[in-house]
Amino acid sequence: MEYTNLGYTDLKVSKLCLGGMSFGSAAWMADRQTSIKIIKKAIDYGINFIDTANIYSSGESEKIVGEAVSGYRSELVISTKGGGKINDFVQGFSRTVLENELRNSIKNLRTDYVDIYFLHTIFDTVDFSDTAKTLSEFVSSGKVGYTGLSNFAGYQLAEFYTVMDMQENIRPVIVQNHYNAVYREDERDAINFCNKHRIAYSPFSPLAAGFLSGKYRRGENTETTRTRTYPVMKSRYFSNEDYDVLESMEEVARSKGISVSQLALAYILNKGFIPVIGATKPEYLDDDIEALKIKLGKDDIAAIEEKYKPHRIIKGTAGY
Ligand SMILES: NC(=O)c1ccc[n+]([C@@H]2O[C@H](COP(=O)([O-])OP(=O)(O)OC[C@H]3O[C@@H](n4cnc5c(N)ncnc54)[C@H](OP(=O)(O)O)[C@@H]3O)[C@@H](O)[C@H]2O)c1
Repeated sequence: MEYTNLGYTDLKVSKLCLGGMSFGSAAWMADRQTSIKIIKKAIDYGINFIDTANIYSSGESEKIVGEAVSGYRSELVISTKGGGKINDFVQGFSRTVLENELRNSIKNLRTDYVDIYFLHTIFDTVDFSDTAKTLSEFVSSGKVGYTGLSNFAGYQLAEFYTVMDMQENIRPVIVQNHYNAVYREDERDAINFCNKHRIAYSPFSPLAAGFLSGKYRRGENTETTRTRTYPVMKSRYFSNEDYDVLESMEEVARSKGISVSQLALAYILNKGFIPVIGATKPEYLDDDIEALKIKLGKDDIAAIEEKYKPHRIIKGTAGY
């Protein structure tokens, strides 16, 4: 496994982060037993960075991660998220809600701290000052190591970062946003902002929820368990422009003798980002690990990017 510093810190994280959204009991997910196998196999491969969220399967994902990592906790970097919508009564980014959510996450994860606590999303109506103060106190209390921001637009990152820095004298260390070869809108500003401030950029859905896994072809039946039971997938991907990019990637992958899924991950890794991978089967990890060895040249990147057309902005929902 290869490791990198987490943003401007000296904390070492694996270049692949294992995502926990697929651990649970919905039809497209890995059940508890399979999830534990996936997590243990990832740890055996040297992956030390595991991501989850309080709203993934209503806490079930956090509980599975907590069970799987017991015995290894101090060697791992575990992130979870708060602020997503739980129900009409419990939602938002206030101190009251976030304190309660962090307490529950720590309990679910069978730990007494989380390494990275993310805000799962944000809205312009939120009182940034109150939320930044709450995060700052989480860090001072030792319950949270570092803070992260997810589903933030560039201008929101700039504003929230400034409030954290000027008001609390802390800075977010990582941004987890939607980015892959068929959704590259963060190249406009969020990625530039992260680079400028040495914040780690960690794309979720690096395989476009599986669209870039090699199992979908233009004009063929595109129904799988994931498309049927993870409704946002069809609304995010499968446009003609997405197939144009996918087909260019198939050509590049063929010329290199690798799979499209490996190329999709290598595309993110070669940009210096930390992809949050969504393994639903233990064997997917074998494929993903190989992607670390793939070096892409300028021509490869150009061939992947050539057909991309700007997309409408997709705001991460986090249950809202
Ligand atoms: N912050 C946020 O709002 C947010 C949003 C979404 C996700 N995330 C994070 O990002 C993680 C990953 O998201 P994602 O599941 O959308 O990621 P993804 O890696 O883009 O897609 C995962 C899907 O791709 C297929 N796949 C994965 N590895 C494969 C391989 N080696 N070969 C062939 N197919 C493969 C599987 O599809 P099949 O199961 O159909 O085979 C799997 O369900 C989540 O677990 C979560 O931690 C965060």
